[in-house]
Amino acid sequence: MRTALALGLSLAMPLLVMSSLAMSSLAMSSLAMSAAAHAQSGAAEGQKLAFDRGKGNCLTCHEIKGGDLPGSIGPKLENLKGRYDRAELTAILNDETVRNPSTVMPPFGRNRILTEQEISAIVDFLQTL
Ligand code: HEC
Repeated sequence: MRTALALGLSLAMPLLVMSSLAMSSLAMSSLAMSAAAHAQSGAAEGQKLAFDRGKGNCLTCHEIKGGDLPGSIGPKLENLKGRYDRAELTAILNDETVRNPSTVMPPFGRNRILTEQEISAIVDFLQTL
């Protein structure tokens, strides 16, 4: 009886450990998936805001993949992820006059043309370019 119980326990323990490991890796992967989904929806929202003539209006000055009738006052926005991190892109959108006092790019954050959340979504989008 005792040996049967001990045997049962020794079989059950690794099973328990294995299933809790499986559960936690499942939880981890669904977390990672929801983070990726979040970034994706942020990027889609950011693209809308960037192209919206009443919001970011970025196409007035920048050529951007997927956007119509761009202007050429600013540089083409491409390969940004390789050149700027998130904080730098946020700073450029918040107030480019900090980097370049004579820029014509509007200080979207400082002037409250865009909210912090809107800037964050646009940065998600810029990081896909
Ligand atoms: C009125 C024109 C204008 C508008 C509108 C504008 N920009 Fe700019 N942007 C510029 C110019 C000019 C530069 C070049 C750097 C400078 O002037 O400091 C620039 C630079 C940048 C850079 C750095 C690019 C690089 O390759 O180094 C990013 C990123 C950027 N803009 C994003 C945006 C986004 C996103 C929007 C819309 C929310 C936007 N800009 C709207 C004029 C504009």
